[in-house]
Amino acid sequence: MIKIRIKELLRELDALLVAHYYQRDEVVEIAELTGDSLELARKASASEKSKIVFCGVGFMGQSVKILAPQKRVFMPKIACCSMARMIDDSYFDTSIAQLKNYGITDIFPITYINSNAEVKAKVAELGGVVCTSANASKILEYALKQGKKIFFLPDYCLGQNLARDNGLKSAILSVDSAEKIKEADVICYYGFCSVHQLFSAKDIDFYRAKYPDILIAVHPECQVSVTEKADFVGSTSQIIKFVQSLDSSQKVAVGTEFNLVNRLRPRANGIQNTFVLSSTKPECPTMNETTLEDVLKCLEFIKKNQPINEILLDENIAKKAKLALDKMLELS
Ligand code: 13P
Ligand code: SF4
Repeated sequence: MIKIRIKELLRELDALLVAHYYQRDEVVEIAELTGDSLELARKASASEKSKIVFCGVGFMGQSVKILAPQKRVFMPKIACCSMARMIDDSYFDTSIAQLKNYGITDIFPITYINSNAEVKAKVAELGGVVCTSANASKILEYALKQGKKIFFLPDYCLGQNLARDNGLKSAILSVDSAEKIKEADVICYYGFCSVHQLFSAKDIDFYRAKYPDILIAVHPECQVSVTEKADFVGSTSQIIKFVQSLDSSQKVAVGTEFNLVNRLRPRANGIQNTFVLSSTKPECPTMNETTLEDVLKCLEFIKKNQPINEILLDENIAKKAKLALDKMLELS
């Protein structure tokens, strides 16, 4: 019943229901567009619908609003990514000042899309660019051609993974020594995903001891000690493709958010061959907050012309942030 009402309202209001893969099953099932952060930014902003109802976290809804300012973007639940909350524009300025104190003045910033509009605008002011986990290597390739020190924010794990994959030296600002920072090609901000920190190299050892032929697939927000032991490292949609390409009898343990892993593959002949690579339940708490009731309420309030949780951005900030996001789309 609730699903029928949601569908009616979406049609009536010319709205598109969008959900990130980490959302609850009930939300993913009814969404008209699902994807990882890159796919959602690209496809939702290019959609013909005038309104976007975005089930995900704040920076994702903001990205659609930045890329398509003429659209109205609503979030059924205000949900923040804890990593994105680890940096704001003042922390960005402080970090740049810290780098300058080390004598590093020629800086090319790359911000992971998991950051707010103000941070993206700051990055654009310095000529930098946004990346997602799906296109980070291509963005790094472009950044390296600029011949400057790369400042990667806010996820130190993704920054370190990228550096390692490309044979570059990395260091973490406020953590590593001045010497290490000065020598590094990629200097990372000390932010991280609290969910992907839950996976450890010990979890991999556990599964390999139990099932010697098991494959391990992880997201690059995991620590280097985890990614270097894995068989496959990729963004959410890359993990989905990888796991679904495997023979149904192949066992695989996946290091990313629980909801996604849980619906990746059905049991084969009654046997579960897909495992969550953690003894804890790696749920993204804020991604899990949005329910079908929230989606319905959001649509009903749009209909009453009393919208709740609409994304509204400072025009100047949004214009600057768009430069860094547009550059990312051009490069990926
Ligand atoms: P994806 O780009 O893989 O969707 O990742 C976004 C995210 O927040 C992962 O934790
Ligand atoms: Fe943010 Fe981590 Fe949740 Fe992704 S899983 S939205 S990085 S807190």
